[in-house]
Amino acid sequence: MTHTLSVIGTGYLGAVHAACMTQMGHTVVAVDTDADKVAGLAAGRAPLFEPGLDELLAATLATGRLTFTTDVSAVADCDVHFICVGTPQRRGEYAADTRYVFAALEAIAPHLRAGSLVVGKSTVPVGTAHALTELLRELTGRRLAGAAARLAWNPEFLREGFAIKDTMSPDRLVYGVEGDAKEADIALLDEVYAVPLAAGTPRLVVDLPTAELVKVAANAFLATKISFINAMAEVCEAAGADVVHLADAIGMDDRIGRKFLGAGIGFGGGCLPKDIRAFMARAGELGADQALTFLREVDAINDRRRVRMVDMAREQCGGTLRHKRVAVLGAAFKPDSDDVRNSPALDIAAAAQQAGATVVIHDPKAIPAARLARPTLTYAEAVEDALTGADVVLHLTEWSDYRDLDPARLTALVASPSIIDGRNSLDPAVWRAAGWVYRALGRPHA
Ligand SMILES: NC(=O)c1ccc[n+]([C@@H]2O[C@H](COP(=O)([O-])OP(=O)(O)OC[C@H]3O[C@@H](n4cnc5c(N)ncnc54)[C@H](O)[C@@H]3O)[C@@H](O)[C@H]2O)c1
Repeated sequence: MTHTLSVIGTGYLGAVHAACMTQMGHTVVAVDTDADKVAGLAAGRAPLFEPGLDELLAATLATGRLTFTTDVSAVADCDVHFICVGTPQRRGEYAADTRYVFAALEAIAPHLRAGSLVVGKSTVPVGTAHALTELLRELTGRRLAGAAARLAWNPEFLREGFAIKDTMSPDRLVYGVEGDAKEADIALLDEVYAVPLAAGTPRLVVDLPTAELVKVAANAFLATKISFINAMAEVCEAAGADVVHLADAIGMDDRIGRKFLGAGIGFGGGCLPKDIRAFMARAGELGADQALTFLREVDAINDRRRVRMVDMAREQCGGTLRHKRVAVLGAAFKPDSDDVRNSPALDIAAAAQQAGATVVIHDPKAIPAARLARPTLTYAEAVEDALTGADVVLHLTEWSDYRDLDPARLTALVASPSIIDGRNSLDPAVWRAAGWVYRALGRPHA
């Protein structure tokens, strides 16, 4: 059975969710407070680069079942409401800023029908769902007496770059539900997710705090795995060992696994860094701060890799970056995305510029977003323009475009054929055979 759904917040999560829910057969009203974003989406323009999203938007808008609006009263006909607004890090603090989640609930509350279900998807500090349940009761209890609106939590695990696949066929669905009507909530969510469930997606039913924690615990684990291998990279650098071979060897143990053991400049983006910090802050509020002090180290290891990358660039330039030209390959925090939030690549580029270098950045998709975030940096539309005259090249985002570069052809462009692979994803043998000095984090300097 299909439903009429609302999606509140049409950023990365919400835009993809709205298009995918329409693709699954539902009718979707997607609401955002950002009028430009809404106008773009309504015209089929995604506010971000995500493989396949423009095509999916075109196809789903053409069904007539997907609308984008700034008018929150348009949600009145919906029976399920997904809250997909942002939960950024609070300025000057580790804690998450949850005010948009509360504002979204307040905005839809006057339009909720009896028995409708509000489903939180944003990543929130544990306890938020209980506070929202209270607020929902306050805001709608009297008006909808007898068949009050309810709240469930359904955390989102999509990966940028794979967002459509991850939404259409997720690894698992987690439903956080509580209260007398929880069986009805489960049944309703099963109808909403009928397509992935029919394809065999496992679903877990848990209470509200567990649902909130599943998401932050997953991100804390992934961040820890990345920082673990980057800590090993630091030791490898000191001992003259090779972290890539070490990762290959330990990754063959299927209790460990090779995924997320790519040593390099570490994690960034709009989720992992802010989520582990918010998790620490929330654990502190709950009196469980000791349990998560290791995440402070995870964060510190991650930040140190960025510093190390700039130090290596300095070494390659003979001890100073002053008056040197640095080519940066990549601005996005990961490939197949134009997201530059907390991007290690942009941070490193800015630090190199601060150290006196002329830095020119290339990225296949993220230059417009990078220009907005760091307007004082210099960008090149073509890789060749970024590389021309470079004293050192920094490979900072793992786009396949950069793996496909022919180093022999590039030698003539640069002032000095010297590359530092911040992602350990180029083939050292190919670059060295073409006459380049190839260095990488955690690997011996041949
Ligand atoms: N981006 C990801 O890969 C991803 C994955 C899983 C979970 N999440 C979580 O999803 C949430 C959203 O992340 P995002 O990356 O999509 O953020 P985003 O900043 O791209 O989008 C948030 C959107 O919410 C809108 N908004 C804010 N207040 C609103 C309101 N009251 N009514 C309507 N719209 C409102 C903003 O205008 C913006 O368009 C966060 O909690 C994030 O941690 C993100």
